[in-house]
Order: sequence, then structure tokens, then C-alpha cells
Amino acid sequence: MSKLGIRMQRLTKGLVRRAQYSGPLARFTTDRERYVHVGIGEVGGWLAHDVVFPLTDLADAQKGLGVTGGAAEIGVHHGQLFILLALYLAQDERAVAIDLFEQQSENVDGSGKGDREILEENMAAAGVDRNRVELITSNSVDITAGQILASLGAPPRLFSVDGGHTPELTVNDLQLAHATVAEGGIVILDDAFSPMWPGVIQGLLTYLDQPDCLKPFALLGNKTLLTHDAFCQPYRDVIAPFAQHLHHRQDNVFGHPVTILRA
Ligand SMILES: C[S@@+](CC[C@H](N)C(=O)[O-])C[C@H]1O[C@@H](n2cnc3c(N)ncnc32)[C@H](O)[C@@H]1O
Repeated sequence: MSKLGIRMQRLTKGLVRRAQYSGPLARFTTDRERYVHVGIGEVGGWLAHDVVFPLTDLADAQKGLGVTGGAAEIGVHHGQLFILLALYLAQDERAVAIDLFEQQSENVDGSGKGDREILEENMAAAGVDRNRVELITSNSVDITAGQILASLGAPPRLFSVDGGHTPELTVNDLQLAHATVAEGGIVILDDAFSPMWPGVIQGLLTYLDQPDCLKPFALLGNKTLLTHDAFCQPYRDVIAPFAQHLHHRQDNVFGHPVTILRA
């Protein structure tokens, strides 16, 4: 299909989506509700649904735990998770998305394919406040902690690591996340236990060898969540009620107690 054809198809989908919102789905009154119940399924990506509600409960609980700041993601693709994070921010918090976008020749392991145009359309359809979002086209190895902090104006409380899935890029991106997150910030690492991407677990193990590393506290679907020691148990308490709805186990990941939830 031609590029114009693809754009027309997306435009039609967007119109249908807006029409649905004003029809029976109008019962969802906020952008957040519409996105988690409808919009998220219409954005291309791999986010498993078992991740969404425990993650949004964690994001909501952060304020009560005194954890504030914006959101950052390395590896955005079409924005499926980024939009979710952006919609769960407070009015005074910002989000930054870092991706190779049009520099796909540097995508060494072919993990996803960021597209700025599709991302912009998806953010607009979901009601993301574009004034509080910065998109940075870059290889994550060329990004500094200072750039992320300058973009957000504060250390992020949510940081998704989902760029290149090689060991080296995983370590690089985890270190960037570590260097920038707020005290009690949550790092969301993709695919650490996926047999398709063995580089990620290798990178995670290298990162966890550092004495002051963040600790894993939960496995939500394909996401491994890490934070500072003092916040691991409070966050596990936040997601404990999901044990009633999802498959769950309590176990250890490399010596750290974790809550495992899976649909
Ligand atoms: C698996 S996809 C991300 C999926 C996304 N988090 C979502 O919610 O749908 C991986 C993304 O990482 C980007 N990427 C790959 N290598 C990268 C690198 N070295 N630096 C920055 N982005 C990279 C790709 O362009 C792609 O968009």
C-alpha cells in the first residue's frame, strides 16, 4: 500500500475511533479511561494487557508515597506505553520520548521501528498534552542524563527502557534510567525474560552487579520493574490486590523478592 494509502487508513481509523468515543463508549469520561479501555488496543505495539492496570495503580500510588516527576521512555515505536505514561502524569509533569525514529539504520537488532509521524497521530488521538512532551530523535548511546533532566525539568518517576535489546544497549539504557530517576522512581524494563531477546537478561545481570543498583520488585507480563530498596515493598503492597485477578507468584529474581503477575 502507498504511504498516502496508509495515511488515509489511519485517518479513517481515527475518525471511527472519535465517533465511537461519542457513541456507546462515551461512558469513558477522561482521556485516561478512553485510552486504557479502547485507544491502547489501536496503537501498534506489544504491550500485554496484564501490565496496564497494575502499572497505572503504581503510577497513581506514587503521589501518596511522595514520588513526583515526569516520565521518560527509551524506545517508543508508535507510543503504546509512552502515551499511557504521559496520560498518568500530573499537570505540572512532563514526558520525554527518545527513539531512533527516522535513523533506523542504527537499529542494530531490529527491535521495533519508531515512527514520529504515527506517534504524533496516536498522541493527538489519545489527548496527550503536546506542550508537555518532547520527542528526541537519537541513539540512546548519544543521550546524557543531563539532557533527560533538562527536558523534564525534574527527575522522572517513571522510566521505560524499551530501546535496543542488546546487552550493551540494555546496560547503557538502565544506567541512564538509574542516573536520572527520582528517589522511588520506577524503571520498567522490557523483555528481560523473553527467549526472543536474550541480550536483555544479560544486560540486566551486568547492571545488577553494580553495588548501588536499583532492585527488581515485580514482573508484570513482559516488564521487569525496578526501584530503590526502600520502595520495593510499598510498591509490592500496591499491586498485591491483583493476585485476585491474575496468575500470581511471589519469588526471587537474583536474590530480590518480586511479585509476579500474569494474565
Ligand atoms: C520494542 S520497540 C518499543 C515499543 C514501545 N515501548 C511500545 O510501547 O510500543 C523498540 C524501539 O526502540 C527503538 N530503538 C532501537 N534501538 C535504539 C537505540 N539504540 N536508541 C534509541 N531507540 C532505539 C526502535 O526504533 C523502536 O521504536
